[in-house]
Amino acid sequence: MPGYNYHFHRDDVEAAIACLNEHGFCVIQQMIDQDMVAALKESIDRQLDPKGDLGPASNRYHMSFAEDSEPVWDLVDSPAYMRFIRTVHGGADLCLHRSAAILRTPGEGMGRWHQDHRGHIENPQHANDVLNRFPIPSGAWFYLNGSHPDRSGIAVIEKSHYPEWEGPEGFIMGPARNGLYPEGGTPDTLYDPMSVPGCVPVVADPGDLICFAALTWHANMATRERRYSCGIGFRPKTWRIDAPWPLPSSAAALTERLPDRLKHYTEGYTGFDGEWRAE
Ligand SMILES: [Fe+2]
Repeated sequence: MPGYNYHFHRDDVEAAIACLNEHGFCVIQQMIDQDMVAALKESIDRQLDPKGDLGPASNRYHMSFAEDSEPVWDLVDSPAYMRFIRTVHGGADLCLHRSAAILRTPGEGMGRWHQDHRGHIENPQHANDVLNRFPIPSGAWFYLNGSHPDRSGIAVIEKSHYPEWEGPEGFIMGPARNGLYPEGGTPDTLYDPMSVPGCVPVVADPGDLICFAALTWHANMATRERRYSCGIGFRPKTWRIDAPWPLPSSAAALTERLPDRLKHYTEGYTGFDGEWRAE
């Protein structure tokens, strides 16, 4: 456990963001109530495992969850949540940037250390390379089971969000800042990911928001329960994205289905085309 506090009350947004800026992550406690937790879990089940046939040690991802999930849009009516989102973005007029949900089943091992940010990729090859280029928190995630190293959740490497960070002591960063491996090894060398210096197994409860910075390195911890998580990202509308893919019909359908008072969140929204590849 780190020797500093990273848990904050939802009314203490400034202190939470100061922690995010200094250490690269923070947890805001009880951002949503347990009814909302249940509604989001139910929504993830409906979208990702409607037949209940996801096998053990498996996962499924929805890469544009806000397009299909109804309860996600109740978040924007939560004053605490929106106060945090607006403060993080400096009060700018916001649009939906991207969203996702992940369902995992017990038996999955720990994932690879990585950073989501792709701003160092000069010629974007995938949708992530196009979208993950902005100085906005890469994780504003609800781990709906909470997060704990004994059960499941997320681990981060503290202070890995500084641009000059070149990897933890004793480890080498893979090509194009992909993955970490021990000095003297190769990208395929096996090691215990939790042993990496600076690793913080994030501890959080259902309803807490786990937030990490654009560059923060993170990895999902071994999964020992049916694990639900989802994340919604916004960005200032002034940061236009000229997406190289046509607007997906599902993105257009979102604008149609949202009530008038929420439609403005889709101005500038690109959708997510996971099939797109650079020519
Ligand atoms: Fe990630």
